[in-house]
Amino acid sequence: MTVVVPVPPFHVDNPWKEDFPALTKLVDGKLPAYLDSASSAQKPESVINAMQNCYADGYANIHRGLYGWSQDLTQKYEDVRAKLAHFIGAKENEVIFTKNATESINLVAYAWGMQNLSEGDEIILTEMEHHANIVPWQILRERQGFTINTVPALDNGSLDIKAYENLLSPQTKFVGIVHISNALGTVNPVEQMIDIAKKYNQDIKVLIDGTQSVIHRIVHMDKLKCDFFSFTGHKLYGPTGIGVLWAREELLNCMSPFLGGGDMIETVSFEKTTYKDAPAKFEAGTPSIAQVIGLGAALDYIHQCGLSDILTHEESIKEYCTHKLQSLPFVKLYGHGDFESVGIFSFTVEGCDINDVAMILDQLGVYVRTGHHCCIPLMEALNVSGTIRASCGLYTDKNDIDALISGIEKAYKMLRA
Ligand code: ALA
Repeated sequence: MTVVVPVPPFHVDNPWKEDFPALTKLVDGKLPAYLDSASSAQKPESVINAMQNCYADGYANIHRGLYGWSQDLTQKYEDVRAKLAHFIGAKENEVIFTKNATESINLVAYAWGMQNLSEGDEIILTEMEHHANIVPWQILRERQGFTINTVPALDNGSLDIKAYENLLSPQTKFVGIVHISNALGTVNPVEQMIDIAKKYNQDIKVLIDGTQSVIHRIVHMDKLKCDFFSFTGHKLYGPTGIGVLWAREELLNCMSPFLGGGDMIETVSFEKTTYKDAPAKFEAGTPSIAQVIGLGAALDYIHQCGLSDILTHEESIKEYCTHKLQSLPFVKLYGHGDFESVGIFSFTVEGCDINDVAMILDQLGVYVRTGHHCCIPLMEALNVSGTIRASCGLYTDKNDIDALISGIEKAYKMLRA
C-alpha cells in the first residue's frame, strides 16, 4: 500500500516545486520523481484551491441567473477567457472552451471540415501527429471522400519539410501540424510550414495542435498566422475537462455549430433556430465552470512564476537530461538531434522490455509513461513499437533527472543480469 507522508518545506534547485502538493509528500519513503507531465501535469495548490472555492463560495450555473452568485461566477468565467486571449495573443471572442484538445480538433473537423472538404480535395497531416489530429479527419474522410496525405517523420525525429512542400497541390484545402511532438519533444518549424502553405495558396487553412507548445513556448496567434490552434488545460497545470480552441473570427462566423443545445441559441422554434455569435455558438450546454476557473488560476500561477523564467529553467533541465541520457551507452534516445526540442524524452534500453523498465522505475519512485504515446504512425516511422517517455514540467529538477538516470542504470543491471 502506498503510504503518503507530508514532508516539511525543502529546498531544491527549483523555486516552484513546493507549490505542488503531490510532489512534496513522501510516497513509500521517497519523494516522487514525476516525469509524466506530457501526459498530464501536476496541479499547484492555487489551482486546487480555486476549484474548491468555486464550489464552496457562491457556486451557480453561469449565463443564466440574475442573482449575485450566477452573475459573479459568469464574470469570473469570462475573465478567464480574457486571460486566455491575452496568454495566446488573440481576441476574446476567438477563444472557445471545449472539453479537451481532442474535442477542439473534432470541432474543427465537424464545424469547418464538413462544410469545406469533399471528394477530390486533399488535406495534409504529419506522421508526428497525436491520434487526436488523425482520427477525426479519418472519420470525416469516410463521409466526405477527400484524401489525406502525410508528411514523413525522418529517422532523426524531425519532419521532412521538402516532402511537405512537394505534397502541396491545387487540391490542398487544409494542413494539420503538431507544434511540439508529445512523443519526442521535437519543436516543429510551424511558422515556416504555415508560411509555405499560405504562399502556395492563401486559402489553405492551417490547424496547429498546440497542446505541448502552450506549456513550453510563448505562443502568439498574430505572429503564428495559423487559422486554428488547439490545446488543453490539464497539461498546462490546470484541471482535466477543459480544452481550448482558438480560431480566426471570420472563420468562426462562417462555421456551423458543432454541438447544439442550451446557451448557444438566440431563439428556438420547431421551424427555425438561430444561433448566437462565437464563442457562445460553439459552447452548447452548461460548460465546465469549475474547470475554467481552475484553468484561470493556472494561468495566474504561470504568470506569477514568469513564463520566460519557466522556459529558461526547462531549457537547463532539458540540456542536463539530454546529456545524461546520451551518456548511457545502452540507451537509445529518439529525437533531440540538431533542431529545437523540449524536455520530452523517448528512449529504449538495449535488450530490455520498456514496461519492465517502467515498473522498476516505479518501484524507485520515478514515474514515466511507456507505449506508443497516442502516436502509432510516428512509432512506425521510427521502426519501434513503443518507447519509455520521461517528460518534464516547470517543477522538474535535477534530482528528478538523477533519479531517472540511476533508475535506468539499476533496471538495466537487473534485467540484463
Ligand atoms: N496525449 C497524452 C500523452 O502524450 C495523453 O501522454
